[in-house]
Amino acid sequence: MNTVKQSWMQKGYADEPLPEGIDLKAEIRRLCREKNAIILAHYYTEGEIQDLADYVGDSLGLARQAARTDADIIVMCGVHFMGETNAILCPDKKVLVPDLNATCSLAESCPADAFKAFVESHPDHQVISYVNTSAAVKALTDVVVTSGNARKIVDTFPPDAKLIFGPDRNLGNYINSVTGRNMLLWDGACHVHERFSVEKLLQMKREHPEAKVLVHPECRGAVVKLADVVGSTAALLQYAIDSPADTFLVVTESGILHEMQKSCPGKKFLPVPPDDSTCGCNECNYMRLCTLPKVYNALRYEWPTVEVPAEVARKAVRPIERMLELSK
Ligand code: 13P
Repeated sequence: MNTVKQSWMQKGYADEPLPEGIDLKAEIRRLCREKNAIILAHYYTEGEIQDLADYVGDSLGLARQAARTDADIIVMCGVHFMGETNAILCPDKKVLVPDLNATCSLAESCPADAFKAFVESHPDHQVISYVNTSAAVKALTDVVVTSGNARKIVDTFPPDAKLIFGPDRNLGNYINSVTGRNMLLWDGACHVHERFSVEKLLQMKREHPEAKVLVHPECRGAVVKLADVVGSTAALLQYAIDSPADTFLVVTESGILHEMQKSCPGKKFLPVPPDDSTCGCNECNYMRLCTLPKVYNALRYEWPTVEVPAEVARKAVRPIERMLELSK
């Protein structure tokens, strides 16, 4: 292996200087055409990434899009588990995540060996895993869910089914509360959604009594209680589009404001801040690792690819396909 590639591997992305004077966006589009590549982006990525993408969506939309694309290369602008999901669904395609450091705190909160021991200590339980998990955790799972279909999929189990839900305790608690279940929860959380401040949200509600409160179910229960609507990023966006209200307090990662503002130019979207900060935004540092220069270099060098060991992929594909089937 040459030393340049070795240094990329240490950094987790191809940090080659850009050719002087290039039109980055035009070059990215050219490479996509030449290589039959598609760019998928999550709503939490930077606005300029979303504007360039072929498809922008929530975790469910991204998985569906990957499953149906005929592109040879998928550039997944988001975090690593999203690339893994694509690689598992599309074993014949090259899946690129422009920066391999883009992990997910939820996925990190659930190491596969510890989760395996937890599952094995409850052999009479079926296992439901949130999509924000590693491929190795999905391989231990009966069905995968996203925030957009968790309730629907949990509802497909008989009322007396014994269920494990991991890794997000907040989403698990929320699904337990709306379905009347008592799923056994893994004790994980998203470092962004966990931080939203009840006090600051209450203050903003007092300042904007007419505003609707949009909350992602990865938030703590005390925050969810204050919501007008609880849903995935795509569901919150759709609610804002359909609602006659013109002001919204947004309690999820602030990247979604880009598409909300684009879809509803006449409406006002106010990000609710985290409790440990004086600034107004609550950003996922991992999502922000995806930048246009990294997308360009990923396409140029077709690296970094997301690799899932064949045996893990063989086991993980079933619960992901089951999810896609159940959420039709
Ligand atoms: P959705 O994509 O389902 O809205 O969930 C957000 C998220 O956790 C992305 O990592």
